[in-house]
Amino acid sequence: MSELDIHQLLDLVNTRQVEPGDERVRAITARIVGDLFQTIDEFDVNPDEFWAATKWLTRLGQADMIGLITAGLGFDRLLDIREDEADRAARRALGTPRAIEGPLYIAGAPLHQHEVKLDEGNEGKGQPLVMEGRVLDVHGNPVANALVDVWHCNELGRYSHFDPDQPDYNLRRRIQTNAEGAYRFRSFLPPGYAIPPNSPVSELFSLLGRHGNRPAHVHFLVSGAGKRALTTQINIPGDTFLDDDFAFATRDGLVVALEPVQSAAGYESLGVDRPFTRVRFDFRLQDALSEDEATPASRYDRAA
Ligand code: DHB
Ligand code: FE
Repeated sequence: MSELDIHQLLDLVNTRQVEPGDERVRAITARIVGDLFQTIDEFDVNPDEFWAATKWLTRLGQADMIGLITAGLGFDRLLDIREDEADRAARRALGTPRAIEGPLYIAGAPLHQHEVKLDEGNEGKGQPLVMEGRVLDVHGNPVANALVDVWHCNELGRYSHFDPDQPDYNLRRRIQTNAEGAYRFRSFLPPGYAIPPNSPVSELFSLLGRHGNRPAHVHFLVSGAGKRALTTQINIPGDTFLDDDFAFATRDGLVVALEPVQSAAGYESLGVDRPFTRVRFDFRLQDALSEDEATPASRYDRAA
């Protein structure tokens, strides 16, 4: 059996076995390897191309950027579409639409009661924003002591922790809602985001002839006792990339309305002292079917 054609080789790769292993991992690996064999054969991929691809994957991993390529290739949105379909199939009452977490969430942001100056340390960086609303269940009842974990990029489109020029937890906070389920925060309208230039990620996108821009957005991970943790985003209207998000993550129900507000009356505790833009938005959380569903956790923590 020393001479093999492609099909015999694939068969050997996929059937070798000295112990049971994991059935599911075996099946999925067999499918992926088979698909790649076929791709190499059909496109006549030569050795230099193959090894260039493995070098690129190595650099992608070394730069900790694997999580940055998945959104642009549609996988993050695919998983959300499948969760939506599972909800519909199970006839679960729907809450606020989910939207992708993205690769830039950091757990453990400073915790505040009811309201916070999310932009503390960034004063004067952009157009002032107050976002406020309530966390509700699917019946419209308030969720007291819910957690609204919020994060967005700075005025240059970069996220703290991943950007060495920002302090820890810059533009990242958790807000605990009051008895009425209410939260509010002050910040500024963030700009859009672009994938890091001169990176393995930007190399692929330029070879694909694609841009790597996301429209302006604010991220949320919202949770409350007995409620299903919700990962979502709001989008700011008017952005050039609203309908051309490289991560395919914008959704109709999540493009908020911007209200110009002239008087800061009622917002003194947030330190607002000039006209600002207000966004009112209520989050609706589904009922949790398990402890796991109710636990607010990043995608990697959840997978661990
Ligand atoms: C990516 C970046 C984001 O800010 C985001 O919200 C989603 C995805 C990314 O680089 O893949
Ligand atoms: Fe983002």
